Amino acid sequence: MKNIADIRKEYTMGELDPNTLGSDPLLVFRTWFDQALASKVTEVNAMVLGTVNAEGRPSSRVVLLKDITAEGIVFYTNYASRKGRELAACNFVSVVFFWPELERQVRMEGAVRKVSEAESDAYFYSRPRISQAGAVVSNQSEVIGGREDLDEQMRVLMADETIKIDRPKHWGGYEIVVDRVEFWQGRPGRVHDRALYQKVDGAWVKSRLSP
Ligand SMILES: Cc1cc2nc3c(=O)[nH]c(=O)nc-3n(C[C@H](O)[C@H](O)[C@H](O)COP(=O)(O)O)c2cc1C
Repeated sequence: MKNIADIRKEYTMGELDPNTLGSDPLLVFRTWFDQALASKVTEVNAMVLGTVNAEGRPSSRVVLLKDITAEGIVFYTNYASRKGRELAACNFVSVVFFWPELERQVRMEGAVRKVSEAESDAYFYSRPRISQAGAVVSNQSEVIGGREDLDEQMRVLMADETIKIDRPKHWGGYEIVVDRVEFWQGRPGRVHDRALYQKVDGAWVKSRLSP
């Protein structure tokens, strides 16, 4: 059996000079995202979202990036889920993308706000019917005894395509308004490159971090 401690990989693909990166981290992120797309990174828009509850206890899960805005990034979820409840108690979050095909990591932090009802509607109704139905039948994060009820509700909703599936009011988007963004490029010997952007008095300040 493989000794887990022996698993190691050298990062050799690229380098990152904070001095030559642009001044707006969201534009840099867009470029990196497009490069990851072009490199066929698996589930390129999957990101680990960290939240904290009212007691300061953190929890994380994967969600999907759905938009990049001028001020941040957007994901969609159930507002009544565990993460939704935690966000109601504390709206600060962290996010991390890991793109192994490029030996890159991007970290973001900021405060969430709900996107408008119109934006949530626009995205909800752009989704395949089966995903709309899934959002309706799931009381996300609640304990359930089995999946029979879910399967039956899905069967009913999918049986008649002429019946419109309304967006549940508890389902919608959050925009993370970012104030800290870090780009990481793996380098040999673990002497990685890190470029940090922090919002200070409304302006982005860029620096290099030690690996
Ligand atoms: C690849 C992947 C993508 C996911 N995308 C989403 C998503 O966009 N929104 C969402 O609410 N849950 C998504 N999930 C499920 C979440 O990881 C999580 O199970 C769910 O949101 C419940 O989390 P919570 O109980 O902490 O609220 C995704 C899971 C994976 C593995």
